Amino acid sequence: MQKPAPLGMGLGLRPIYYPDILEGKPNVDWFEIISENYMVPGGRPLAMLDKIRADYPIVMHGVSMSIGSTAPLDMDYLTKLKALAERVEPQWVSDHLCWTGVHGVNLHDLMPIPYTEEAVAHVAGRIGRVQDFLGRRIAIENVSSYVTFESSEMDEWTFVQEIAERADCWLLLDVNNIFVSGFNHDFRGSEFLHSIRPERVVQMHLAGHSDCDTHKIDTHDQPICEDVFVLYAEACRHFGPVSTMIERDDNFPPFAELMAELDRAREIAAAVEIEAAA
Ligand SMILES: [Fe+2]
Repeated sequence: MQKPAPLGMGLGLRPIYYPDILEGKPNVDWFEIISENYMVPGGRPLAMLDKIRADYPIVMHGVSMSIGSTAPLDMDYLTKLKALAERVEPQWVSDHLCWTGVHGVNLHDLMPIPYTEEAVAHVAGRIGRVQDFLGRRIAIENVSSYVTFESSEMDEWTFVQEIAERADCWLLLDVNNIFVSGFNHDFRGSEFLHSIRPERVVQMHLAGHSDCDTHKIDTHDQPICEDVFVLYAEACRHFGPVSTMIERDDNFPPFAELMAELDRAREIAAAVEIEAAA
């Protein structure tokens, strides 16, 4: 199992930053797109993407696969996803370890799954079918959660690792999601990280969240906090060089501020590499 080579430090491609990217040609190693935003027949989004694709590697990240649902796989969605992947030729395609709807209702949210053996088998089987259909191995991301299930039989990290092995898929680890869920459910992020096999991890997400005293919410509208940078350094030590990017989805700062955050992540990863080589 050969992991794709690390891409370096990337950003989530958001329309508000198209001019900064197209005119400034910033020192970003790659961009991640939200797949659904480009699953359209034509127009501005695809025209912008084609231009940016000419200069930067692209990774596709979806929010609608609903891999954890008990509803049948949405073959119309997967057909459009496959067509986009054929056009974009991304380094890889990812989605979330969650469900987003059932019985024809789309909740437009990333809902958690009970951590049971039954769910491992169910989700791993679905990932296998998606991978067969797309003709490529996909990456699955851990989500933030705000509830736990009485029926859960294992820790989240055991669940995530088990599914990756059973489905033979990649993992996209969201360091902020680990931190947020760790606070909400009282576990240590480092325990999560150290339970995941490095050979499965192709990508990491960094993002900001909102602090509500009793719980934290994964809002992607704040700068990355110090605790998440500390956890990121620990992840770099455990996983080695992994493609990393920042997700910012609201309360958009000037592009230079996002670049400063990306430089901070770059410095952390570089310092860990020097530490490992010493
Ligand atoms: Fe994420």
